[in-house]
Amino acid sequence: MLGQILFVGAGAMGGAILRGALQAGLLEPKQVQVLVRTEASAHALRTELGVNASVEMPNLSKLNTIIWAVKPQVWPQVVPQFQAIPAGTTCLSVAAGINLATLETALPQASWYRAMPNTPVAVGAGLTAVSVGTKGTDEATEAFTKLFGAIGEAVVVSEADLERLTAVSGSGPGYAFVIMDALADAGVRLGLTRSLAIKAAAYTLFGAGKMALETGTHPAILRDQVTSPGGTTIAGIAAMEKVGLRTAMQEGVVACYERSFELSKK
Ligand SMILES: NC(=O)c1ccc[n+]([C@@H]2O[C@H](COP(=O)([O-])OP(=O)(O)OC[C@H]3O[C@@H](n4cnc5c(N)ncnc54)[C@H](OP(=O)(O)O)[C@@H]3O)[C@@H](O)[C@H]2O)c1
Repeated sequence: MLGQILFVGAGAMGGAILRGALQAGLLEPKQVQVLVRTEASAHALRTELGVNASVEMPNLSKLNTIIWAVKPQVWPQVVPQFQAIPAGTTCLSVAAGINLATLETALPQASWYRAMPNTPVAVGAGLTAVSVGTKGTDEATEAFTKLFGAIGEAVVVSEADLERLTAVSGSGPGYAFVIMDALADAGVRLGLTRSLAIKAAAYTLFGAGKMALETGTHPAILRDQVTSPGGTTIAGIAAMEKVGLRTAMQEGVVACYERSFELSKK
């Protein structure tokens, strides 16, 4: 359904989406064009992925789909060059803070989607929120769900929920790395080597996430299953909660959410 597809930008995020889609066989190199800023990036993408990557504007009339994966501050500079895209071109932007109304105003002839992936898409374990613009179709929504499903899990949500998810799962890997580092520090404090402590912390977060997803069990019940009365784990949790673990998570996520609105107004 995606047809001839152009990636505008293929760095950390665009590149991860493109690699995932090619590996999953959802896209073939011959249907993909990539527009980047530097010839070095274009050359690297041509060599690695066999796609038609260039710093030159493509023939817009031949495109069915455009994935916009440039930085939000770059997007306003790039978009004027696309005024001539044909009506009905399907566009999806991953740029944080640029809402559907802005996208639809900039290129009103296109059918717009917005997505918020997170960095684990690079290892096939991302969560991507997808929001559908006013001209979205069931067919394109399904195609994008499959595309992001190839690099993790995709959820179709309202734009308000996409903003909320930005603060939970979009920035979430950042919080998880801080928690992982802190857990590893605690292991080092007890006398573990740094490398063993990091492995233990990373597997703990990975395994707990996998258990919650695969069992579908509420995290409070899973926690209950590992806290025996008067035992060690409940003593650890009680000490963490005394210094505000739960409040810290909530305050952090709300601060992220509010900051995202401040930035999008700029
Ligand atoms: N990384 C994340 O965790 C994450 C999560 C969710 C959403 N996003 C969104 O993803 C988007 C891209 O972020 P990123 O981290 O992938 O950035 P990035 O790694 O810096 O990649 C940016 C890409 O845009 C290209 N580019 C820059 N200026 C251009 C221009 N004038 N014309 C055409 N291409 C141009 C770059 O080409 P060169 O390589 O040649 O410079 C590069 O391929 C952002 O809007 C961000 O909000 C990122």
